[in-house]
Amino acid sequence: MESLSWAISTLALIFATLTLLSKLFIRKSPKLKLKFPPGPKPWPIIGNLNLIGPLPHQSLHKLSQTYGPIMQLKFGSYPVVIASSPEIAKQILRTHDHVFASRPQTAAGKYTTYNYLNITWAPHGPYWRQGRKFYLSELFNSKRLDSFEYVRVEENRAFLSRLCALSGKPVTLKEHLSRLTLSIISRIVLGKKYFSVSEFDSSIVTLDEFQEMLDELFLLNGVLNIGDWIPWLDFLDLQGYVKRMKSLKEKFDRFHDHVFGEHRANKEGVKEFVPKDMVDVLLKLADDPNIEVKLNYDSVKGFTQDLIAGGTDTSATTVEWAMSELMKQPHLIEKATEELDRVIGRERWVEEKDIAQLPYIDAIMKETMRKHPVAVMLAPHLALEDCNVEGYDIRKGTRVFINTWSIGRNSSVWEAPEEFKPDRFLGKAIDVKGHNFELLPFGSGRRMCPGYSLGLKLIRSSIANMLHGFNWKLPENMKPEDLNMDEVYGLATPRKFPLVAIVEPRLPIHLY
Ligand code: HEM
Repeated sequence: MESLSWAISTLALIFATLTLLSKLFIRKSPKLKLKFPPGPKPWPIIGNLNLIGPLPHQSLHKLSQTYGPIMQLKFGSYPVVIASSPEIAKQILRTHDHVFASRPQTAAGKYTTYNYLNITWAPHGPYWRQGRKFYLSELFNSKRLDSFEYVRVEENRAFLSRLCALSGKPVTLKEHLSRLTLSIISRIVLGKKYFSVSEFDSSIVTLDEFQEMLDELFLLNGVLNIGDWIPWLDFLDLQGYVKRMKSLKEKFDRFHDHVFGEHRANKEGVKEFVPKDMVDVLLKLADDPNIEVKLNYDSVKGFTQDLIAGGTDTSATTVEWAMSELMKQPHLIEKATEELDRVIGRERWVEEKDIAQLPYIDAIMKETMRKHPVAVMLAPHLALEDCNVEGYDIRKGTRVFINTWSIGRNSSVWEAPEEFKPDRFLGKAIDVKGHNFELLPFGSGRRMCPGYSLGLKLIRSSIANMLHGFNWKLPENMKPEDLNMDEVYGLATPRKFPLVAIVEPRLPIHLY
């Protein structure tokens, strides 16, 4: 008893002494008065996740009409800032670009892209900086891109011939567009297609299996995974996404091992080996002992996956949206074909060098990217330090989304934003390369898409040649106003219902 009261008296004495000392020596810091962007009041645990529907960009667009172009919400445990005007996007991606140049760590980055060893999910730092430098100087320099023009031409021709063979029948366009972009990107990045299209050729995967792997990759990289936002629930994997990510990684691992094994074998014994495709370039960099940050085998896998995934679904989805909008307004197709007949004539296909002479095709592409940007909220950005944007405090660690879908529908920026009107771009100096913050399909600043020049080439050539080569009709009994324009959310935001169309050749048949 005596020892207990002694212990209590001792503790009381220590507590009193500490309180006195803290009062004497620790001066209270003046209360920080932070002003956060406006936003709805969060609930415990879930924050504002209850306000986010299956199309998060649309839910956030609606909320921005109440709270304004910069708003702060809470997703689970994390503050999230949403930018919905060109001015705020400019503040984040240009004025304070260095602050917002990182990415949050997500399960998708960890499990599907080799523990953040690709570019898309890599945190800001020397690894990411070096990787981007390689992308821009080694893989996407204009000489290398030009050297692959023949691949784009061959695959485009094969695509147009396949469409011609189906003339008069209903065609699900996206299937053909995906095969086109996947074939081009595979040949540029991997050197050949590596997937089989018929039961007679043997490859590591079939086209359908490979397309499924990419669809799954896009879906899992775009989902709202509860464990990313409420970390103490992570281990439960409530939606089953992490399980799917791990199984997808195994499939990609097998694919990459096969591809790299073949590339290494082709190199063996060759004295002055000249890289023929992007995997060759990446493997050479990985063998280089003098580079600043060493690349390992997983880095090459991560980079390769970025290249394949980055270029395929994004371009195919954009072209499918463009054709859907055009089929709703056939007079726009007439205007485009009038330009094509005048500039190109009916005796040949459109070449990449012709594009500069086709302003209406360019306007169709820009208008599609305004109304249907594939990355509706870009990829998430992460604040590396505290920052003040337009008088509002944004704390380090905040996740930031730029709602480009919402910016494209902002009526103070665009006249009649719900209408698809390519003419609005004619004679205007608005580009899509990150200089005009009202149109940001590829983002802007340090994290801007490094593959945009290849993306633009793919999209422009296919739109131009599809319009040049065919008359387009909707299936029997379907009127333009029946064409449903709903979306599905993901890292790319495609049509909910694939476009089905009927084509008829409009050039001399020997060209197909
Ligand atoms: C229509 C075509 C394309 C569109 C619309 C598109 C769009 C985007 C967007 C919006 C971002 C995120 C920007 C940000 O976070 O602020 C991005 C990043 C990226 N894109 Fe693309 N992209 C396209 C084509 C490509 C191609 C062809 C490649 C490569 C072959 C590619 C590779 C990448 C990579 C690696 C990143 C991550 C950059 C980083 O985090 O530093 N993209 N893209």
